[in-house]
Amino acid sequence: MKINKKVEDAINKQVNAEIYSAYLYLGMSSRCTEMNLKGMANWFYVQGQEEMTHAMKFYRFVLERGGHPVLPSVEGVRTDWKTPLEMFEAAYAHEQTVSALINNIMDIALAERDHATASMLNWFIDEQVEEEANASEIAEKLKLIGESKDGLFMLDKELSARVFVDATQPAA
Ligand code: FEO
Repeated sequence: MKINKKVEDAINKQVNAEIYSAYLYLGMSSRCTEMNLKGMANWFYVQGQEEMTHAMKFYRFVLERGGHPVLPSVEGVRTDWKTPLEMFEAAYAHEQTVSALINNIMDIALAERDHATASMLNWFIDEQVEEEANASEIAEKLKLIGESKDGLFMLDKELSARVFVDATQPAA
Protein backbone atom coordinates (compact mmCIF):
# COMPACT_ATOMS: atom_id res chain seq x y z
CA MET A 1 0.00 0.00 0.00
CA LYS A 2 1.34 3.44 -0.99
CA ILE A 3 2.42 5.60 1.90
CA ASN A 4 -0.19 7.88 3.44
CA LYS A 5 0.40 11.58 2.60
CA LYS A 6 0.42 12.83 6.21
CA VAL A 7 2.87 10.11 7.19
CA GLU A 8 5.02 10.83 4.12
CA ASP A 9 5.21 14.54 5.01
CA ALA A 10 6.19 13.76 8.60
CA ILE A 11 8.90 11.31 7.52
CA ASN A 12 10.27 13.72 4.94
CA LYS A 13 10.62 16.32 7.69
CA GLN A 14 12.42 13.73 9.79
CA VAL A 15 14.97 13.08 7.00
CA ASN A 16 15.83 16.75 7.29
CA ALA A 17 15.94 16.62 11.11
CA GLU A 18 18.32 13.64 11.04
CA ILE A 19 20.64 15.36 8.56
CA TYR A 20 20.49 18.44 10.79
CA SER A 21 21.53 16.16 13.68
CA ALA A 22 24.51 14.92 11.64
CA TYR A 23 25.50 18.53 10.98
CA LEU A 24 25.07 19.49 14.64
CA TYR A 25 27.38 16.68 15.76
CA LEU A 26 29.89 17.45 13.03
CA GLY A 27 30.07 20.99 14.41
CA MET A 28 30.66 19.58 17.90
CA SER A 29 33.31 17.22 16.55
CA SER A 30 35.19 20.08 14.92
CA ARG A 31 35.03 22.09 18.16
CA CYS A 32 36.43 19.14 20.16
CA THR A 33 39.28 18.80 17.67
CA GLU A 34 40.08 22.49 18.19
CA MET A 35 40.09 21.85 21.96
CA ASN A 36 42.53 18.95 21.47
CA LEU A 37 39.94 16.46 22.69
CA LYS A 38 40.46 13.92 19.95
CA GLY A 39 38.43 11.15 21.61
CA MET A 40 35.38 13.37 21.97
CA ALA A 41 35.88 14.61 18.43
CA ASN A 42 35.81 10.96 17.35
CA TRP A 43 32.67 10.27 19.39
CA PHE A 44 30.78 13.17 17.80
CA TYR A 45 32.09 12.31 14.32
CA VAL A 46 30.78 8.74 14.66
CA GLN A 47 27.53 10.12 16.07
CA GLY A 48 27.21 12.29 12.97
CA GLN A 49 27.81 9.26 10.73
CA GLU A 50 25.07 7.37 12.59
CA GLU A 51 22.67 10.28 12.09
CA MET A 52 23.20 10.09 8.34
CA THR A 53 22.24 6.41 8.44
CA HIS A 54 19.06 7.38 10.31
CA ALA A 55 18.27 9.94 7.61
CA MET A 56 18.87 7.34 4.89
CA LYS A 57 16.68 4.75 6.63
CA PHE A 58 13.76 7.20 6.56
CA TYR A 59 14.61 8.26 2.99
CA ARG A 60 14.72 4.65 1.73
CA PHE A 61 11.43 3.93 3.47
CA VAL A 62 9.63 6.79 1.68
CA LEU A 63 10.88 5.48 -1.68
CA GLU A 64 10.04 1.85 -0.87
CA ARG A 65 6.48 2.86 -0.06
CA GLY A 66 6.02 4.71 -3.35
CA GLY A 67 6.40 8.17 -1.80
CA HIS A 68 8.39 11.19 -2.95
CA PRO A 69 11.32 12.37 -0.79
CA VAL A 70 11.59 16.16 -0.53
CA LEU A 71 14.97 17.55 0.38
CA PRO A 72 14.81 21.12 1.68
CA SER A 73 17.88 23.00 2.91
CA VAL A 74 19.43 22.03 6.19
CA GLU A 75 19.62 24.70 8.88
CA GLY A 76 23.08 25.86 10.02
CA VAL A 77 24.45 24.84 13.40
CA ARG A 78 26.55 26.55 16.05
CA THR A 79 30.22 25.64 16.29
CA ASP A 80 31.30 27.98 19.11
CA TRP A 81 30.78 25.60 22.03
CA LYS A 82 32.70 26.59 25.14
CA THR A 83 33.07 23.30 27.02
CA PRO A 84 32.59 19.54 26.48
CA LEU A 85 29.84 19.57 29.14
CA GLU A 86 27.96 22.24 27.20
CA MET A 87 28.14 20.05 24.07
CA PHE A 88 27.04 16.82 25.71
CA GLU A 89 24.20 18.55 27.56
CA ALA A 90 23.07 20.07 24.26
CA ALA A 91 23.38 16.64 22.61
CA TYR A 92 21.19 15.12 25.32
CA ALA A 93 18.59 17.88 24.96
CA HIS A 94 18.68 17.45 21.18
CA GLU A 95 18.11 13.70 21.42
CA GLN A 96 15.11 14.31 23.68
CA THR A 97 13.70 16.60 20.98
CA VAL A 98 14.33 13.94 18.32
CA SER A 99 12.54 11.34 20.46
CA ALA A 100 9.53 13.66 20.66
CA LEU A 101 9.57 14.10 16.85
CA ILE A 102 9.64 10.34 16.33
CA ASN A 103 6.86 9.79 18.85
CA ASN A 104 4.85 12.35 16.94
CA ILE A 105 5.34 10.47 13.64
CA MET A 106 4.23 7.31 15.43
CA ASP A 107 1.07 9.10 16.61
CA ILE A 108 0.33 10.14 13.00
CA ALA A 109 1.02 6.64 11.66
CA LEU A 110 -1.29 5.05 14.22
CA ALA A 111 -4.03 7.63 13.63
CA GLU A 112 -3.78 6.85 9.88
CA ARG A 113 -3.72 3.09 10.57
CA ASP A 114 -0.38 2.86 8.75
CA HIS A 115 0.99 -0.22 10.47
CA ALA A 116 3.97 -0.64 8.12
CA THR A 117 5.28 2.77 9.18
CA ALA A 118 4.56 2.02 12.84
CA SER A 119 6.60 -1.17 12.54
CA MET A 120 9.55 0.68 10.97
CA LEU A 121 9.33 3.40 13.63
CA ASN A 122 9.70 0.88 16.44
CA TRP A 123 13.37 0.62 15.47
CA PHE A 124 13.77 4.37 15.99
CA ILE A 125 11.87 4.35 19.26
CA ASP A 126 14.30 1.76 20.65
CA GLU A 127 17.25 3.61 19.13
CA GLN A 128 16.23 6.87 20.82
CA VAL A 129 16.33 5.24 24.26
CA GLU A 130 19.99 4.48 23.56
CA GLU A 131 20.70 7.87 21.97
CA GLU A 132 19.40 9.74 25.01
CA ALA A 133 21.15 7.42 27.47
CA ASN A 134 24.53 7.70 25.71
CA ALA A 135 24.62 11.51 25.66
CA SER A 136 23.22 11.81 29.18
CA GLU A 137 25.75 9.32 30.58
CA ILE A 138 28.69 11.26 29.18
CA ALA A 139 27.25 14.58 30.43
CA GLU A 140 26.93 13.06 33.92
CA LYS A 141 30.52 11.77 33.80
CA LEU A 142 31.70 15.25 32.83
CA LYS A 143 29.86 16.69 35.82
CA LEU A 144 31.62 14.21 38.11
CA ILE A 145 34.98 15.02 36.52
CA GLY A 146 34.47 18.74 37.15
CA GLU A 147 37.77 20.59 36.75
CA SER A 148 39.95 17.45 36.87
CA LYS A 149 42.31 17.40 33.89
CA ASP A 150 43.14 13.72 34.56
CA GLY A 151 39.45 12.82 34.51
CA LEU A 152 38.92 14.66 31.25
CA PHE A 153 41.97 12.94 29.74
CA MET A 154 40.64 9.50 30.77
CA LEU A 155 37.15 10.14 29.43
CA ASP A 156 38.54 11.50 26.18
CA LYS A 157 40.60 8.32 25.83
CA GLU A 158 37.52 6.18 26.48
CA LEU A 159 35.53 7.99 23.79
CA SER A 160 38.28 7.51 21.22
CA ALA A 161 37.29 3.82 21.11
CA ARG A 162 33.91 4.42 19.49
CA VAL A 163 33.69 3.01 15.96
CA PHE A 164 31.05 3.57 13.33
CA VAL A 165 28.64 0.73 12.65
CA ASP A 166 25.66 1.11 10.35
CA ALA A 167 22.98 -0.44 12.55
CA THR A 168 20.28 0.33 9.97
CA GLN A 169 21.65 -2.37 7.64
CA PRO A 170 21.39 -6.10 8.24
CA ALA A 171 24.60 -7.62 9.68
CA ALA A 172 26.92 -8.92 6.94
FE1 FEO B 1 18.95 10.03 14.83
FE2 FEO B 1 20.32 10.90 17.36
O1 FEO B 1 18.77 10.56 16.48
